[in-house]
Amino acid sequence: MTSHLQERLLAIMDRKDHWAWKHLTGPGLTRDQLAVHFRHEYRVYVRDFPVLLARVLGQSPPAAVRRALAENLYEEQTGALSLGVSHPELFLEMIDGLGIPRAAIEDEAIPLEPEAHAYRALLDRASAAPPWVVGAAVLTIFVEGSVHERAELLGRREMLPIEEALRAHPMVRHYGCPPERMRLARAHRAVEGGHRRDAWEMVLGHVPDEGPRADAVASAVAEAHAAWMQYRDAVARAMGLPRHG
Ligand SMILES: [Fe+2]
Ligand SMILES: [Fe+2]
Repeated sequence: MTSHLQERLLAIMDRKDHWAWKHLTGPGLTRDQLAVHFRHEYRVYVRDFPVLLARVLGQSPPAAVRRALAENLYEEQTGALSLGVSHPELFLEMIDGLGIPRAAIEDEAIPLEPEAHAYRALLDRASAAPPWVVGAAVLTIFVEGSVHERAELLGRREMLPIEEALRAHPMVRHYGCPPERMRLARAHRAVEGGHRRDAWEMVLGHVPDEGPRADAVASAVAEAHAAWMQYRDAVARAMGLPRHG
């Protein structure tokens, strides 16, 4: 049985989907277009995700929540619970595999779209300001979660065995990334199930199902979704993707 708050959050996650996704998972993009997408993802939240989690931890949540956040942050920043390499570094390994120079992704001198800064500013605010549970919801449910959240909770998410999943990954299939440079997907397969479970427990276990706190969590996640959609629109625009077609 899903709680009322969980259902409100799942209804948002059901819409964590964007029209440009079919372009990003299909063939035909140039290296430059891929670089625009990955540069934004990296600099908006991939590189600093552990730091964002640390800010929520820094707000002194209850002990059980501290453990879940610390474990998630430890893995994201070190990879010590999976492959021994931080997730931002594993992301850059995929960039290497795509033959994109790291500088094209990391260089702070290359501007990002304004909507990317706006989405990041929202993540900065949510992670740094109390109540901690709002930051936890925005980061661990919305940012780390996906459109598959509902299916995953119901145990109905179909996933290929990891070796097959790596071979079928669009960056491998269409863009020549060697499967051995896709260790990020491997690390996520190893630990992300636990992060998904922890995310929901952390939030639902510490917010009354209805009332002002639940409303604050639901509206922060809805705002994150709205800012994310605008961010994704902006990246698609910068890549020159056709909305219809
Ligand atoms: Fe990760
Ligand atoms: Fe994670």
